[in-house]
Amino acid sequence: MTDANVIFHVEPGGSLRGMVHVPGDKSISHRALMLAAIADGDSHLSGFLPGEDTLATQRALASMSVAFEPASATELVVKGVGMHGLKNPGTPLDMGNSGTSTRLLAGLLAGAGVDCEIIGDASLMRRPMGRVIEPLREMGADISGSEDQTLPLHIRPSARLSGIRYRMPVASAQLKSCLLLAGLYADGKSCLQQPAPSRDHTERMLAAFGVDIHINNNEICIEPAARLRATDVSIPADISSAAFFMVGALIAPGSDIILPGVGINPTRSAVIDILRQMGGRITLNSERSEGGEPVADIRVETSDLHGIDIPRHLVPIAIDEFPAILVAAGVADGVTRLGGAEELRVKESDRIAAMSAGLDRLGIQVEPRADGMQVQGGIFSGGRIDSHGDHRIAMAFAMAGLAAKGRIQIEDCANVATSFPGFMDIARQAGLQISAERS
Ligand code: S3P
Repeated sequence: MTDANVIFHVEPGGSLRGMVHVPGDKSISHRALMLAAIADGDSHLSGFLPGEDTLATQRALASMSVAFEPASATELVVKGVGMHGLKNPGTPLDMGNSGTSTRLLAGLLAGAGVDCEIIGDASLMRRPMGRVIEPLREMGADISGSEDQTLPLHIRPSARLSGIRYRMPVASAQLKSCLLLAGLYADGKSCLQQPAPSRDHTERMLAAFGVDIHINNNEICIEPAARLRATDVSIPADISSAAFFMVGALIAPGSDIILPGVGINPTRSAVIDILRQMGGRITLNSERSEGGEPVADIRVETSDLHGIDIPRHLVPIAIDEFPAILVAAGVADGVTRLGGAEELRVKESDRIAAMSAGLDRLGIQVEPRADGMQVQGGIFSGGRIDSHGDHRIAMAFAMAGLAAKGRIQIEDCANVATSFPGFMDIARQAGLQISAERS
């Protein structure tokens, strides 16, 4: 985390070409750290994302007595302390910008009976935590937030949690994972019904660590565990990071890129379906399975895009990719409509507001709605855009430069390091004319 303001300057034009290696998957890296930490024995993680968000999880676990042996920035051994081996941290756990660290650890630590306080940066302090506080309390956890159900969270040791039957009000993988981690420590089975599928990395990884978990359509049931078996985890490249380059290559004339080893888990990869429906030429090569997750080398070529009505059932499984998709919509022929995406209002920024303001600044006609927006494709002018400290807004508008008539400047980009360390160098190498100014 840094207080320095970073401004991206993107010169108009250019194309993206060649192999583009994006870093490891953020969601899977968080989960691998957490499950390995409470396993019996050593787990070797490869392809780990050394971003600010996952490092926040790692630091939190280290302050609760978990040891790590790094072999490189992306490879480490986690020395598991067992399900009941976490110690109370002496100071508040600072999760920085990371909602995933916060919500998943809330469930894990409530179950493990760790006495702690969880805090974060200004964006995280505003994000809703009632969605995890209420069901955890129903399980018997002693957890509280501020009056308006935001951080700081206080967790106190409580009697053993009870299993829960819970109908989730939102299709949120963070909420689901929070309750599954708490369910490991409960006195009986827990069953969660999700209103629609959301990313299932936790379910897959719990099974890999030897936990008894059953999935039947949108119901997931977990049995309490006596122990987790240490397991090596190979983490694929992050499709959410790849999405910026997919959109960049689609909209920049003369582009042709390969994104190797990207996770294409079907509960995560709807960005590919949506961009293909818009006319995107995206090919999956060498499809394979790595570490229990489907992976492919993704080829993306310049394409003539057209607007679409984004199918609502794809929204939760493309939820982090809308900043990039909406940039594609900005230059697509015709109108793109997004609805059923009210969750975008409570991400690292209000992404409906931030994307509408940014597209409008680039001369695109947008109509924001409570649960989405309508975008009339056009031609990007240049302009100065506020990313609101949101990594994904910053990277999406950086890619807009490839199809813009003038220079784009993007404010408040330091948080790009939360999910994509090295973004600027990788983007520049691929062909984006980007530089950064620090103040
Ligand atoms: C995540 C789930 C999603 C996503 C976030 C990562 C996860 O959040 O937006 O970036 O790793 O579980 P929600 O569960 O709030 O939709």
